[in-house]
Amino acid sequence: MNTENPFASGESRLIQPPSTALVIFGATGDLTRRKLIPALLNLLADGYLPPGFVVIGASRSEHSDEEFRNLIKEAATPHTRRKVKEEVWEDFLSRTYYVAVDGDKKETFHSLKTKLESVGKERNENFNVLYYYATAPELFGALSSHLKSAGLITSGSDAARTAIIAEKPFGRDLATARELNKELRACFREEQIYRIDHYLGKETVQNILVFRFANGIFEPLWNHHYIDHIQISVAESVGVGTRAGFFDQHGILRDIVQNHILQMLSLLCIEPPHSLSSAESIRDEKVKVLKSIRRYTSETVRSETVRGQYTGGFLAGEKVAGYLDEADVPPGSETETFVAMKLEIDNWRWAGVPIYVRAGKRLPKRITEIAIYFKQVPQSLFKGRESLNLEQNVLAIQVQPDEGISLRVSSKPPGPRMRVRPVEMDFTYGASFGVESPEAYERLLLDAMKADPTLFARDDEIDEAWDLLSPVFDAWGSKESPLLHEYEAGSWGPAEAAAIPGASNHRWRRL
Ligand code: BG6
Repeated sequence: MNTENPFASGESRLIQPPSTALVIFGATGDLTRRKLIPALLNLLADGYLPPGFVVIGASRSEHSDEEFRNLIKEAATPHTRRKVKEEVWEDFLSRTYYVAVDGDKKETFHSLKTKLESVGKERNENFNVLYYYATAPELFGALSSHLKSAGLITSGSDAARTAIIAEKPFGRDLATARELNKELRACFREEQIYRIDHYLGKETVQNILVFRFANGIFEPLWNHHYIDHIQISVAESVGVGTRAGFFDQHGILRDIVQNHILQMLSLLCIEPPHSLSSAESIRDEKVKVLKSIRRYTSETVRSETVRGQYTGGFLAGEKVAGYLDEADVPPGSETETFVAMKLEIDNWRWAGVPIYVRAGKRLPKRITEIAIYFKQVPQSLFKGRESLNLEQNVLAIQVQPDEGISLRVSSKPPGPRMRVRPVEMDFTYGASFGVESPEAYERLLLDAMKADPTLFARDDEIDEAWDLLSPVFDAWGSKESPLLHEYEAGSWGPAEAAAIPGASNHRWRRL
């Protein structure tokens, strides 16, 4: 068959990956319909998918190809970032197949093998095969070993490439993450494993590298001599919604800090890698940052972390339930929905620069921001005058929703008097580039198909992140555990969180 992608332009053709069959385990699940199918539709519409691209949905239930096509069209339509043209849907569905596979039943993997062979024959393609594990992580080990015993993993250089994309959570602590890694590594080499952290696919997060390493003016300032402190906030206005069953087992520290925040932090603070086009050199530098973050003790968990759980309140004028009243939350659950903590990187570049992070659900708005506070001028020349409160320069990277970067500088407002006011110098993606940013999953799926692991987490990064947080989980789970503070839905978290930056005379940034 091998039909051309009809939406490809000269340029998009240049970066198309080789022919790929993307097998999605968990094909009828939430992630597939909300993120994966919409991302693939956009890639197809923008011409980035190769002519030889197919999707094979796999899950327990029995469906024909046709039924599955109808099912995903209906389920994914409300989640696409732009309206998908009918001809894009048509082309996409003509590349979509389905096979029933039960992750617990080895024998069902033979049906997958037969399906891959028949689709390959029908389309006259020798596909690379990418397995997407969009299932509960408990299944990852079984999926891998069944793929292996069914002969569905090729590793030789002569055969088409096979690889997996594994969704988070990658374990729930150091021991389980290592166990999971062991199970995967029994079947795949490290370079065949793509551990996805969708924050790394966000445009603004990728821009951290460009911003730091394509501009000469920031590098001399990017250290403890000039930076006073850093704040990273991941605020969400949503509650746990229908995900309480999952969320209650994890909490915000595992859900957001262990992965998204530590990944952003490690990129922000790396040493210049020897090459930006070498995945390993970037990952090596990220691991060094993670290793250098000071480990907590049971005492510092008390003084440098605050956790909270939302109670009922109001958001955008609407009354919302407290965490304990959400569907499927076990009575008396002590799972945290908010965390604030202080981190310090013990290396020459960052010694003495506190990094405050906070993440929470049911906060007043959805915003993810990295704010870098520069040191004050050594001495104010404006003393004794009116309105001369000098503020710190702040470089704010807004990851979402209004993607952009702003720099707060002091300036003199017009008029006869010498006064100083902070003003913002802004760059927004919308105004500067005039195009909508792609969804994180678009970039990441494309990279995995192209065998580029740069924006995926390596096993040692995951290890270090869990190692860092282990003492926090231990202390929170102990008898002398610090309190779980309540905060009203629609507020910025428990009042106690102010003490995290407050201990060093800093304040949370108003978002
Ligand atoms: C996921 C978490 O990884 O990230 C969710 O499991 C969270 O709880 C989501 O809501 C946030 O992603 P984004 O891209 O909307 O910031």
